[in-house]
Amino acid sequence: MKKHILVVPGDGIGAEVTAVGKQVLEVIAQKFGHEFSYDEALIGHVAIEATGSPLPAETLAKMRTADAILFGAVGHPKYDNDPSAKVRPEQGLLQMRKELGLYANLRPIKLFDELLDASSIKPEILRGADILFFRELTGDVYFGKRERLDDGNTAYDTMIYSKYEVERIVRKAFEAARTRGKKLCSVDKANVLESSRLWREVVQALAPEYPDVAVEHQFVDAMAMLLIKDPKRFDVVVTGNLFGDILTDEASQIAGSMGMLASASVGDSTGVYEPIHGSAHDITGKGVANPLASVLCVALLLDISFGLKTEAQTVIEAVDAILKAGFRTRDIGNSSTPADKLLGTRAMGDQILERLKA
Ligand code: NAI
Ligand code: MG
Repeated sequence: MKKHILVVPGDGIGAEVTAVGKQVLEVIAQKFGHEFSYDEALIGHVAIEATGSPLPAETLAKMRTADAILFGAVGHPKYDNDPSAKVRPEQGLLQMRKELGLYANLRPIKLFDELLDASSIKPEILRGADILFFRELTGDVYFGKRERLDDGNTAYDTMIYSKYEVERIVRKAFEAARTRGKKLCSVDKANVLESSRLWREVVQALAPEYPDVAVEHQFVDAMAMLLIKDPKRFDVVVTGNLFGDILTDEASQIAGSMGMLASASVGDSTGVYEPIHGSAHDITGKGVANPLASVLCVALLLDISFGLKTEAQTVIEAVDAILKAGFRTRDIGNSSTPADKLLGTRAMGDQILERLKA
C-alpha cells in the first residue's frame, strides 16, 4: 500500500514521542511491504515562533493532501502564564480540527493487564475495563462565542450545539457500539443545560434505529464518579467536547497514565492521530516521556485511516510484549521496577522497534 503521512510534532514532548511513532511506521512499512512517504509541518508554539501563526497556511495545505496525520501536542508555559496573549498555540489545534472537519475524537481506554499496578485504582475494579469514548471535537464551549465585559471583570463562554452536530457523532458512537459490547452511554448535563437537553433528545430520537444497542444516559457529574467506581459497566461512551475532555483525562487513570492513551480525530477528511496528553513542559527535554501513546496512535492510524488491521494489531502486540517483559517508562513504573527496566523515551522506542523487527 502506498500512503503519504504528515508528521506534526508540535511542542514540548510532542517532538520526542512522534519521533518514536514515525520509526514504528517505518518498521511496519518495511515488515509488511508498504510504501509510506513522510513530510513534516509546524503547529503551535514552534509555528508561532517561525511564522507568527499557530497554524501556518503551509501546514494546513500539507494536512489537506496527506492520507493521515501523526500529531504530537501543542502548548508552551509562556502562554499558560499569560492568559492575555492573543496568538496562542492551542488556536492552531482548534483551527486544525475545525478546518479538517474532525468532529469525532475516538479515545479507547483499555488497560494492559501488566499495568494493573500502575494505576491508583484497585486492580479488581480495573481488570477487564474497556471503554471507547467518542468526544465531540468541533463544537461546544470551545467554539462558542466568548467575550470579556465590564473592563475585563466579567467573562462568558457559550456552550452551543446544533442538532446535526450531535447527530453525526452519536451515529458514529451507535455504530461502534454495534461492533463491540452493544452498550452506549450518553453523557450530558440535561438537568440544567439547554444544549444538553437537545443532546439527549437527539440520542433518544436515534435510539430506535439501533434496537440492538442498549442506551443509558448519565449526567456528567455522576459519570465522573461512576467512571472510577465501576469502569467495567461502560462500553461506548459519547459526549460533548468539554465533558469529553475532562472525563477522558480522568479515564486515563484506568489505563495507568496519560502517556498510554492514544486518540483518533476523524470526520470529513484526513484523520489526525494524537495522544491525549499535552506538551508536558515539566518533563520536556528530559528524555523520560512515555512514547507509547504515540505508538498506539500509529496503531489507530493504520487501522482507521488505512484499514490495515493486521499491522495495527502487530503494533499493539509489540506494546503488550514489551510491557510483559517488564519494561516501563517513569510514569508507568513504580518502586519495584528494576533499574534496568526503567527506560527513557528512546530506549522504550528501541524496545518496541526491536520487537517489531523480530
Ligand atoms: P499534559 O498532558 O501535558 O501533562 C499532564 C501531566 O502528565 C504532566 O505531569 C506530564 O508530565 C504527564 N504526562 C503527559 N504526557 C506524558 C507522557 N507521554 N509520558 C509521561 N508523562 C506524561 O497537560 P498539562 O501539563 O496540563 O499541559 C501542558 C501543556 O500542554 C499546556 O500548555 C496545555 O495547554 C497543553 N495541552 C495540549 C494538549 C494537546 O496538544 N492536545 C492537550 C492538553 C494540554
Ligand atoms: Mg485535554
